[in-house]
This record gives sequence, C-alpha cells and structure tokens, in this order.
Amino acid sequence: MTTEPNLPGLVYRSHYAADTKMRARLDDLIGATFSLDLGALTEFDFQDPSFTPFSYFDESGACIANVGVYAMPLILDGRRVDALALQSVCTAPAWRMRGLFRDLVTRALKWCDERADLIILKTDTPSLYPRFGFKARSQSRFRMETAETTQDRSVETRMLDIRGDAELVKRLFRDRAPVSNTLALSDYGTIFFLEAAVNPAFALHYLPAFDAMMATCKSADGTFQIDNIIGRDIPPLSALLGALDEIPEIVEFGFPPDRLAVGVEVTPLEQMAQIMTRGPFLPDGTPFRVPASGI
Ligand SMILES: CC(C)(COP(=O)(O)OP(=O)(O)OC[C@H]1O[C@@H](n2cnc3c(N)ncnc32)[C@H](O)[C@@H]1OP(=O)(O)O)[C@@H](O)C(=O)NCCC(=O)NCCS
Repeated sequence: MTTEPNLPGLVYRSHYAADTKMRARLDDLIGATFSLDLGALTEFDFQDPSFTPFSYFDESGACIANVGVYAMPLILDGRRVDALALQSVCTAPAWRMRGLFRDLVTRALKWCDERADLIILKTDTPSLYPRFGFKARSQSRFRMETAETTQDRSVETRMLDIRGDAELVKRLFRDRAPVSNTLALSDYGTIFFLEAAVNPAFALHYLPAFDAMMATCKSADGTFQIDNIIGRDIPPLSALLGALDEIPEIVEFGFPPDRLAVGVEVTPLEQMAQIMTRGPFLPDGTPFRVPASGI
C-alpha cells in the first residue's frame, strides 16, 4: 500500500478484486456513478475473474476513484487477439477535476502495455481518451429484410431466465464459437449477465440442437435486433428466425453477420457511446459492431 504524495489522505490500491470488503466499496462507487445494482453479479457468481481495479480510497475507506481492466479476448480479422478492456472508469463527484482519472488511467495503461497490444473501451465521453492514445472507431449497423428468407419452424427453442439458468449461460460462454470472423468477443460474459439481469426487453432464446443462445432486444429506433449468439455452434439464419414467435420484417445484427452468410445493408451506427481502441485493430473502413451486451 502506498500513499500518493500529491493527494494527502488518499490511498492508492490495485489488484484487490478478491478482497470482498474493498470490492464492496468499489461496487458502491460504480453503482452510484452508473446507477447500477451490482449485487446480482456477486449473488450469481458472475464477476469476471480477470477484473483488475486501479483505485483511490479516502481516509474513511470509501473508494473515490477507479479505472478497471479486464481481459477481452477477441477474434479480430480471423485471428485470436488477447486484448484488454478499460471499464468502470469513475471519480466520485466531490473528488473530480483533481487529476485522479488521469493518474489512474496512466497507471492502468502501464500495466496493460506489459500484457497486451490492444486496449479497447466504450465511452460516452470520447474526448477523454485521445491523449492516452485511443482512437474512436465508427461502428456499423447490419440490417436485412426477412421477406425472402426461409425459416425452420421445426427448431426446438426454450426461453432462458438469466438467474435461473445462470450455470447454463456460464457454460455457453466458456464453450462459445466466435459469432463473427471479423470481430467477435470471447469474454467472460459479465456485461452480458448485467444487461440480461436489468433489461426486461433483453430476451434469451436457447436452441438445444445447436447448444447456442440467441440474445434479442430492440435497437434504439425499435428495430428487432439479434444482439449476440453465444454457444458451441452458430445456428443458420433459418433456425434463428424459426426460433422466434413472430418473424420481424427487418432484423438488425449486433455483430458483423459474416458467419451467417446473409446479405445485409450496412449503414453508419449513430450513437453516443463510442468504441475506442489503442493498438492494432481492424483496417480502417472494415464494417464492425460490438454487441451492446459485450462491453
Ligand atoms: C470522467 C471522470 C472519470 C473524470 O474524472 P476526474 O478525476 O475528474 O478527471 P481528471 O481530474 O483526472 O481530469 C483529467 C482531464 O480530463 C478532463 N475531463 C474531466 N472530466 C471530463 C469530462 N466529463 N469531459 C471531458 N473532459 C473531462 C479534465 O479537464 C482534465 O483535463 P486536463 O488534464 O487538460 O486538465 C469523472 O468526471 C466521472 O466519473 N464521470 C462520470 C462517469 C464517467 O463519465 N466515466 C467515464 C466513462 S468511460
């Protein structure tokens, strides 16, 4: 434990994720900053074991600033890349504009640079990160009309409940096949679990024949979206559509649908949250999208 000399009274700590007391103080800060209830993560043992916090604590023991890092293994352009992701970046309101974020990002990136060539993050405030070498990456929307498609109505389907079926979901994440050869996440699934736990519109369809789960939701403009597919096998589009109660006229994909071999319309994705990368990424102009439930 070291006391940061320029910030009297504050204590810098990192790598304490397994310390339940300190972790609870960090969860308090993250929960208050992003209006999130992280209790379900502990209850259902869905915390990413790779999560590495870099934080400041005040004299009362409260966590007042944090930058988190976690493993983000990817398939990128057909290759496996062991990237890292920055997450849970926050400073308590009373401590803002004193350089804590800058200090913690610098410390976290020093640690990351010894371990990975690529760092990735998602932010609503992209102006924070270019000074640290991050570049904003434009994502794309992938949409198709279903009128000309075939649907396999014989596919057996079961709706999953993220809490009741947590163990099945964890296994599917462990054994998953890449959803895309352009960009697919192979992460632990913590963000997915949180999204499914808090968002009632996020539906999980399990297709036993493929040992795969399709997560569906509505995009910002109300289009039906297949956000992600997690499982041993990526089912063909006919099975994915056949698993739905009603076939929507338009389907949007939350990932590049190259493995589904379907014709899609590709347009720019306009949204506040930006994906930013530091290090070698896809060639500029390669259409990609990261599932909302993935980072
Ligand atoms: C964004 C946040 C982490 C900044 O923390 P902080 O400890 O106050 O930041 P710092 O004092 O280290 O500021 C570092 C630099 O970022 C700038 N900055 C701080 N907050 C900013 C903001 N919201 N937008 C743009 N720039 C900002 C500062 O002006 C400073 O610039 P300088 O080095 O040129 O003086 C904090 O405001 C916060 O927790 N916000 C809510 C959660 C959030 O938005 N997290 C980031 C999402 S990825």
